[in-house]
Formats: sequence, C-alpha cells, structure tokens
Amino acid sequence: MREGKMLAMVLVVLGLSLSSSASDSQQQKWWKWMFSGGTSSEVNPVGSSVVFPLSGNVYPNGFYYVQLNIGQPPKPYFLDPDTGSDLTWLQCDAPCVHCTPAPHPLYKPNKDLVICKDPLCASLHPGDHKCDNPEQCDYEVEYADGGSSIGVLVKDVLLLNLTSGIRLSPRLSLGCGYDQTPSASYHPIDGVLGLGKGKSSIISQLRDQRLVRHVVGHCLSGRGGGFLFFGDDVYDSSHVIWTPMSRDHSKRYSPGSAELIFGGKSTGFKNLCVVFDSGSTYTYLNSESYQALLSWMNKELSGKPLTEALDDDTLPFCLKGKKPFKRIRDVKKYFKPIALSFPNGWRAKSQFDIPPESYLIISSKGNVCLGILNGTQVGLPNFNVVGDISMQDKIVIYDNEKQVIGWTPANCDRPPKSDTIIM
Ligand SMILES: *[C@@H]1O[C@H](CO)[C@@H](O)[C@H](O)[C@H]1NC(C)=O
Ligand SMILES: *[C@@H]1O[C@H](CO)[C@@H](O)[C@H](O)[C@H]1NC(C)=O
Repeated sequence: MREGKMLAMVLVVLGLSLSSSASDSQQQKWWKWMFSGGTSSEVNPVGSSVVFPLSGNVYPNGFYYVQLNIGQPPKPYFLDPDTGSDLTWLQCDAPCVHCTPAPHPLYKPNKDLVICKDPLCASLHPGDHKCDNPEQCDYEVEYADGGSSIGVLVKDVLLLNLTSGIRLSPRLSLGCGYDQTPSASYHPIDGVLGLGKGKSSIISQLRDQRLVRHVVGHCLSGRGGGFLFFGDDVYDSSHVIWTPMSRDHSKRYSPGSAELIFGGKSTGFKNLCVVFDSGSTYTYLNSESYQALLSWMNKELSGKPLTEALDDDTLPFCLKGKKPFKRIRDVKKYFKPIALSFPNGWRAKSQFDIPPESYLIISSKGNVCLGILNGTQVGLPNFNVVGDISMQDKIVIYDNEKQVIGWTPANCDRPPKSDTIIM
C-alpha cells in the first residue's frame, strides 16, 4: 500500500515449520548451536515512568520512531512504536535470510533463547501450540499493509532511564527477525516496538517485572517528533478525557463504538468500532462511512476554490488550489472538523476531536490530501482505525490497569522533563 504503513497485526502464524526445507533445517540447527544456556534477570522494584523522545512525522516520512538501546554492550536501534501489535522485533543477523535496508547494523543476538514452553511464547501462538523444537520459540507476524517478520525470540537487556533518575537494565524477550517481507510502502526501520496489551508486549513485560505501571502513551507532534512514555506520572489525569476499553475487542486498544460527527453535527453513522493504533500512519473508516465523508466533504467544497487533483497520487483524494499550498493553515478554513463521539464515556459523552490539521496533509506538489482512507480496501471492514495523523498534538494514553483510554490536547514538541507534569 503506497499510502503509508499500517502495522495492525492481521495474522500470527505459529508452530512455524522451520524444517520444511534443507536450508530451513540448517537454520534450525544453527539456532541450537548458537543458543545454549541463559542468564537470570535483574529486577529493580521502582514505581516511575520512562519518557522517550520520538522522531519522524506523518508526511513525508509516514512514521514516527524511537531510539532504544539494546544488548550488552548496548547498541542503538530505531523502532516504530505500534500500539496495534504486541511483539517487539529487530532485524537480526541470525544470519539474516531477508532483511530490509535499516538505519543501523543488524542486531546480533546473544545466546539467551526463549524456550517454547515459556508462557510468553504460548501467548504468541493462538490455539494449540506445538513445540517442534522445545529449545526455541519461533514467531511469525504479518501486518495489514503486507509487511511481515519471521524469527525467533531471544532475551536481551534494554536500557531505560526512569524519570526519577534511576537507570534500569531489565532483560526482556524480543524477536530476532531473520526473514522480513517489506510492505508496499518502504520505511527504513530497525524493527517494531510492540506496545499492545498482550503478554509479549514490552509494556506488559515491564509490568510483570514490576518496573513500571501497565500504562503507555504518546504525544505525536504535528511539526514532527514528540514523545512516548511508559508509566503514569507524566500527565495530569484530571485533564484527560477517559473512556473505558471495550470488552468486545479485548485484544486491541478500542474504546468501543462511536458515532461519526461532521462539522459538529450528528451524522447518523453510529456503531463505528474504533481502534487506536500508532502503527498506522493514516486513519481508516469502513467503506460506508468513508463514502459518506467524501460526499459531505464534496458538498462543503462546492463553490470553494479547490478542484480535485487527479494527477497527484500521494493519497487517493487530493485537491488543488489556485496556487500550491505551503501549509495546512492556508486551507483549513475550507474544511470542517470531524469527531468521534463515544457514548460510553465516563463523562456524559467522550468526544475525540479530529480538526482539519489532524486529517489533512499538504503533498509535495502543494495539494491538500485527505488522510482518512477506505479501511475496507485494506481488509479492515470491521474496524475504524485512528492512526497517527489523527492523534497528532494530543496525549493519547492506554491505561491497561484501569482499562481506560484517554486523550487530551497537548504541546508534543518537547518531552516533559523529569519530575514535571505536563499540562
Ligand atoms: C540515560 O541517561 C544517560 C545519562 O544520564 C544517558 O547517557 C543515556 O543516553 C540515557 N539513555 C537513554 C536510553 O535515554
Ligand atoms: C472501499 O473499498 C471497497 C473494497 O475495495 C470498495 O468495494 C468500495 O467501493 C470502496 N469505497 C469507496 C467509497 O471508495
């Protein structure tokens, strides 16, 4: 998909058969040889948060990334933070069968393999989990944009600085990905930082080691960059609009069903099942709502000095003005705000506002393009995905302890300093 990446996990195939061909069985032997023995983990029982600066942007990069320092001695890697999937993996020299170009040299795994019986391994394999090779945990993840990674789980040290000033080096499980298929939209990245709810997620592992609370959040700046955090002491909860996580979609970060609001008015499009997913660059609506949005928008635009730019294939729907546009500010007056209204909020109603700057981009040709896409077209007919574009300039918090999702407008340009509360 040329329209940006979409890391929502569509498939986890496990009980992966590595012994189906000669080269595969060599690979397996190699793993046996490479990984023998293991070490115990160190634990520091501290309650605090971790804040990471983010780089990247929605357009033209199409993704945000965080630097993590992993291994002994620690080496830097750029990972794409994904609240839509659990597993963290790095492109890995195992050796690599197929890796995509990356900003850093491939990760070299140590010899500490996660065994097949490990509950964390079982959590990655839905249904009956067979251990063809008990000494290792194979994984395969596939994302909605067609990208995928095949590898084996290893344990290694992650360096973390808590906001309290304490430095931690927990030993965590992560994927050594030795066979990656790139998605149609190319993104130079060392790996994915899985921040979902599942047991293999980094945030779940840190909680299980009692290092931080089971809370993750991000603040993506519309000017690029921003910050990511683990734990709950970097925001003032009383300013946040909270809504309960849906029990019907318990594997994803979903506040349940919403009504689509256009220009402040009810649209009658209710029961949109919404998922918040930092692994998706753009926002996706199901085909019907997307169709309706396009027609409301076209109605609003009649008589305005904008015409469809059919020669611009940056995104499916682009418009040109009399002169090329430089910034969203030049055009936002022609567009209405959109919102998602959740009736099950703790206040009377929790509304997630999507102003024009959170659903439009200015393409390199100076046209304005709609960053809300047809989810049905990418195989997500049942979910409406709130992607990076619509989460810009807000703190979005996924609190797995209280089982709530929250958001509030914020300045994401600078990470909060230690011991200071933002807002
Ligand atoms: C942690 O802090 C130290 C110095 O206090 C710094 O050198 C290091 O880069 C920081 N690590 C991370 C992962 O932010
Ligand atoms: C959305 O995609 C589906 C599947 O490709 C297609 O049938 C439908 O016409 C599309 N809707 C719009 C409004 O483009």
